[in-house]
Amino acid sequence: MNVYKFLSNSIKKKLAEVSELRDSLPEDIAIETPKIRDFGDFSTNIAMMLARPLKKSPRDIADMIVPHLQALDFVENVSVAGPGFINIKLKNDILLNPEKYDVASDAKDSLTIDMDYGSYNIGKALHIGHLRTTVVGDTFNRIARFLGHKTKSYNHMGDWGRPMGLIIAWILEYGMPKNADDINAMYPASSARAKEDKEWLERAQRVTVDLQNGNQEYLDIYNEFAPMSLGQISEILVRLNILPFDENKGERLVAEYVPNVQKILEERNLIVHDDGADIIPVKLESDTAPMPPVLWRSSTGAQTYAAADLAAIYYRTTTDNPNDIVYFTDSRQNLHFTQVFRAAKMAGMDSANLQHIGFGTITGADGKPFKTRDGDVPSLHNMMDMVAESVRVRAQEAGKELSDETVEMIALAALKFNDLMHDVKSDYVFDVDSVTQFEGRTGPYILYTAVRLNSVVKKASAMNVAAVCGDDLMGEERNLLLRLMDFERVLENAFARRATDLLANYTYDLAQDINTFYHHCPILRDDVPNNVKQSRLHIVNMARETLLQAIDLMGLRVPESM
Ligand code: ARG
Repeated sequence: MNVYKFLSNSIKKKLAEVSELRDSLPEDIAIETPKIRDFGDFSTNIAMMLARPLKKSPRDIADMIVPHLQALDFVENVSVAGPGFINIKLKNDILLNPEKYDVASDAKDSLTIDMDYGSYNIGKALHIGHLRTTVVGDTFNRIARFLGHKTKSYNHMGDWGRPMGLIIAWILEYGMPKNADDINAMYPASSARAKEDKEWLERAQRVTVDLQNGNQEYLDIYNEFAPMSLGQISEILVRLNILPFDENKGERLVAEYVPNVQKILEERNLIVHDDGADIIPVKLESDTAPMPPVLWRSSTGAQTYAAADLAAIYYRTTTDNPNDIVYFTDSRQNLHFTQVFRAAKMAGMDSANLQHIGFGTITGADGKPFKTRDGDVPSLHNMMDMVAESVRVRAQEAGKELSDETVEMIALAALKFNDLMHDVKSDYVFDVDSVTQFEGRTGPYILYTAVRLNSVVKKASAMNVAAVCGDDLMGEERNLLLRLMDFERVLENAFARRATDLLANYTYDLAQDINTFYHHCPILRDDVPNNVKQSRLHIVNMARETLLQAIDLMGLRVPESM
């Protein structure tokens, strides 16, 4: 349940029974969390809101409202503070059995969301620059699905542009690569040569255009090396525990729809011929910053990056009819998406709300893009290896024996959680040793908390302790239960704001509340009375369910022990 909505709706319904208030109630009754929860779990400023329409002091209105709220079956007590804030303390029963009350929450609209993330390139290993689009995109997808939305994830592969021409030209000269690493070396080599050697560049450009036009020889070569690259990409995605993409439809597979878009653009007179190229001007009168035109077809005759994006929008809107298409890339593509979205709008292809989320950069301590010690851009395998190594060292220092599988799970949590907890738009500093700490705002701490709860549950079952809902709650228990109640709202906000950091940071707060509870409220200890054991186990079960759910939404894996 989204407890805020639940309270807001229930209070509104109750107050609407009061004839004096009925017509003055606001659309939504705001519910907040008081800073100090001594007087109430939640508060509302409804009395202040009604002061003007009712021409009474907030305090008088609050006094009038209190008995009505007191009558709600989930309310323990209601009090008035300050000028007229109303504090509400919930009954333990709703904290312990929220599902019993979850009726008033309004039916949710299910949206259809297309998501474009990952979007890797043939001929290029996944590197640090792909981390955020992969991890944040995947988590956003999981959250959306969990909330009941229909999602379709697109890996808009970079598999049809000039890099393909450069690679094929290289293969024609030097022979077929044996594996993905060979291919990955070809693109930079060929592109370096194209910078020096004009003929080489022109050759690669011709190959690109011919490939796009169906040259069989080039297609045969393409079909031999592209799968090697794709195989390497799948491998790292498995290692990162990323959901499979619904469609691996990128630049090559949307080429089919370029003519459809061409037709629309022509009908609307949007194309301008410019020095052999076709462009779409998208500058508006109101623009103060430079706004270059969209390059629709390059002067060599090749399909462009922007054309692929417009064709993809055409395909997605006509096939999926989504409410939103959300793109996750780094912020260096902000201008590209602004241009493409404008062109889509001018072409009337904007039935979906088009949204680009541009990420900040992962930096080293010096604030520059993160590099390895040797000064290289690390691949995602390198990143995982580095983090795993740090976990291994840490475990050794603590005298722990961890299996390789466990180390890998901890490394995964360390890397992904650290990525998720930062606001996507800002840069963040990546420091291997701080992300693997077992204490603090880290993935290992989250896993550690889950391992702890798993082991309590296992032990309880071995001791034959059943979970039974009690009624008497300690402060730490109530705090934990209130945190659990906040889960749904956090997810809804994370979804609406495309802000996966809200989930990560909630999970950290939850883990802290769990550990505080664990510390103050012994569960299975011999001196704990049986009924208390049972009721604490009930709370453990509830906390564990939410924690594991949050962990799953972040695509982490929980080891047996650590
Ligand atoms: N392949 C591109 C790159 O690595 C990212 C593609 C992003 N998605 C898109 N629809 N343009 O830079």
